[in-house]
Amino acid sequence: MTSLLGTPAILGGSPIRSVDYPSWPVWDAGEREGLLTVLEAGGWWQGNGTVAADFAADFAHYHSARFGLALTNGTHTLEAALAACDIGDDDEVIVPGMTFVASATAALAVNAIPILVDIDADTLCIDVAAAEAAITARTKAIIAVHVAGAACDLDALTELCTRRGLRLVEDCAHAHGTVWRGRGVGSWGDFGSFSMQRSKLMTAGEGGVLICNDEALRDAAWAYADCGRVQGEWFYHHATYGSNLRMTEWQGAVLSAQLGRFPAQNQTRNDNAVALNAALDAIPGIRTPRRDPRMSSQGNYCFVFHYDHSQFAGLPLKQFEAALAAEGIPMGVSYPALSDLSIFRNSNFAPRLRHRAPDVDYASVRLPRVEHAAASTVWLQHRMLLADRESVLDVARAVERIHLHAAGIANELS
Ligand SMILES: Cc1ncc(COP(=O)(O)O)c(C=O)c1O
Repeated sequence: MTSLLGTPAILGGSPIRSVDYPSWPVWDAGEREGLLTVLEAGGWWQGNGTVAADFAADFAHYHSARFGLALTNGTHTLEAALAACDIGDDDEVIVPGMTFVASATAALAVNAIPILVDIDADTLCIDVAAAEAAITARTKAIIAVHVAGAACDLDALTELCTRRGLRLVEDCAHAHGTVWRGRGVGSWGDFGSFSMQRSKLMTAGEGGVLICNDEALRDAAWAYADCGRVQGEWFYHHATYGSNLRMTEWQGAVLSAQLGRFPAQNQTRNDNAVALNAALDAIPGIRTPRRDPRMSSQGNYCFVFHYDHSQFAGLPLKQFEAALAAEGIPMGVSYPALSDLSIFRNSNFAPRLRHRAPDVDYASVRLPRVEHAAASTVWLQHRMLLADRESVLDVARAVERIHLHAAGIANELS
């Protein structure tokens, strides 16, 4: 094993890891056979097949929900959820400032106004008090994002939404397999929205599933996703406005196979994440997010930890990440604060909200905890968590090595 005391890889030493972590996506004969079956059956779209719909139903049950809709992606699932909740012109939707842009643009897609709020500094999920403080007479919904698979405080959120008459849409794009008090995420709010894009915890390259428990909401979301059709009516009977957001049968076939191996993968990722949390927490300047005891399983889309550069001889985050990458650790990056994106800073919302100027000055929105987290968290790729335990603990060894040599690295790279 490479010595922690040896020269860090970024300064020319041998890396802690010379072998890469497991690759992603994972697939085998199950995906191949599923695709062939769809090919030969000739259905190919949901109008002539049940593969995608069956997958969405199984996925919904896995997350404790009654209904699942197989849709194109995790952007459209959010949009369909808001449309089904009858959210539109002049309504406000509260969204956390640390997330992928789609969580907020979903509101714009239905001509509603996203209101950006701060996050919990520890879990990076929406701060429920900040969400409550942002409620106005126009607020219709909260979109809560389970960031990196860590469940938001669903007890507090459901209580708040019930008390204030708001819809709750859970954005579970990072949280396949996250369980809150014995029930899957996505089943707590009016809707749970999942993405199956390539980087996600199960994938068909693209794809999305919308889950819910209410039949009328299910019907409304499906009508929106299926060109305004009403189930059981004539094919060219279009009752309401809708678009085409249907998943293909190909995606359904791949995702059925992915769902089959998901529970075992989820268990491995959970066990490894818990072990890595403990190892990293022992290193000065590193803090892993507190795992809420109400969350019995976390779908780790990413493994996130907080980095305090003052304990690493002032080594800036970017240089720390470069040193970690040189040791063979695969990383993503933190989201920037949504309020810093050009779309919001400059209110570039066309073709949405054309009928009136937005009444929020996003350029002046300050989200201090989002900004701090964006500048001080490290996001590791989930494929690392599928490795054997010693390989996973190499992450902590690499961080420890950088900690030991932080002054030298800072000196050399400055
Ligand atoms: C939190 C979050 N919401 C929504 C989405 C959108 O999903 P998709 O890429 O499938 O449209 C993503 C995808 O990255 C995401 O991370």
